[in-house]
Amino acid sequence: MKYAVITGASSGIGLAASVELAQKGYAVIGVGRDEARCEQAALQIRAAAPDANIRFLCADLMQQREVARVAHEITEILLQEHEGKLDALINNAGCVRSWYTTTEEGYEQQFALNHLAGFLLTWFLLSQLGRAGGRVLMTGSESHKQFRMRWHDVMFSRGYNPLAAYKQSKLSNILFARGLNDRYQKDGVRAYVVDPGLVCTEIGCKNTGGLVNWIWNMRKKHGAQPEVPAGTYGYLCETEPAPEELYYYRCKPNRYSKQVTRENADRLFALSERLCGVEYPSAIVTEKEKTI
Ligand SMILES: NC(=O)c1ccc[n+]([C@@H]2O[C@H](COP(=O)([O-])OP(=O)(O)OC[C@H]3O[C@@H](n4cnc5c(N)ncnc54)[C@H](OP(=O)(O)O)[C@@H]3O)[C@@H](O)[C@H]2O)c1
Repeated sequence: MKYAVITGASSGIGLAASVELAQKGYAVIGVGRDEARCEQAALQIRAAAPDANIRFLCADLMQQREVARVAHEITEILLQEHEGKLDALINNAGCVRSWYTTTEEGYEQQFALNHLAGFLLTWFLLSQLGRAGGRVLMTGSESHKQFRMRWHDVMFSRGYNPLAAYKQSKLSNILFARGLNDRYQKDGVRAYVVDPGLVCTEIGCKNTGGLVNWIWNMRKKHGAQPEVPAGTYGYLCETEPAPEELYYYRCKPNRYSKQVTRENADRLFALSERLCGVEYPSAIVTEKEKTI
């Protein structure tokens, strides 16, 4: 049995991806922020996949200490049940905001959750992914194409524009995937970004107000159901040999921004390491290799 960790599994696209992987026989460790919603999601997954091996862990992934805590809980489970191996990590939890809001670390919330949380969780789980030759998937968005990194002020501390902050966080997802592949493809770990398309979820109505809420209520009516993009997560986790490209829409490679260069990926890697207080290794060293 393979193991997958899916963040933001308590609703929307993450919940549908959890069903997809549970139906394919994966043991799914879902991460959500609210216990009652996680319990409800587990019931929904079991209803769709009666043999599902599903459990939920609760963490507010906007806060880095919570990312660290849940990473340790995941590591314990993997050590006890799967020889410390992780086959797939899906960094999907995300949010939109209407106003400038910050985390405990003082980081802008969309950048913190949509990018930094996945960056830090992947760092904690890197050797587990290395042991399995695992895959790291981010949930991106076509909106990344309309943006360049705002290097002088990535958190938009001056002149906050919620939509621009969201687009930048989604460009960061692809730059992070590119950075992971540049470093660890040689170690058997592959990263991808899924473009889910426009999907009818509640993302634009959570902790938002005013214009963002109104626009999203209009837009989501034209969105697909979350089950539509879910198949792409299954495709990228299951295909052998691993698919070659970086960015996928409905199981097919798609074009992505010219901003996704090695230089930008390295720059974001270095910045994110500093913001998270961690350093990624130049290669993944697994316990097996250490003993040789
Ligand atoms: N919907 C679209 O059209 C669309 C398009 C492109 C990309 N995306 C991306 O798809 C991803 C999933 O979004 P969605 O549309 O499925 O929205 P969603 O239904 O609101 O799902 C977001 C998930 O993230 C969780 N979450 C929110 N804040 C969190 C926190 N602080 N800590 C831990 N988990 C947290 C939510 O938990 P709760 O259940 O408790 O709210 C939920 O499980 C996001 O990365 C989004 O940017 C969506």
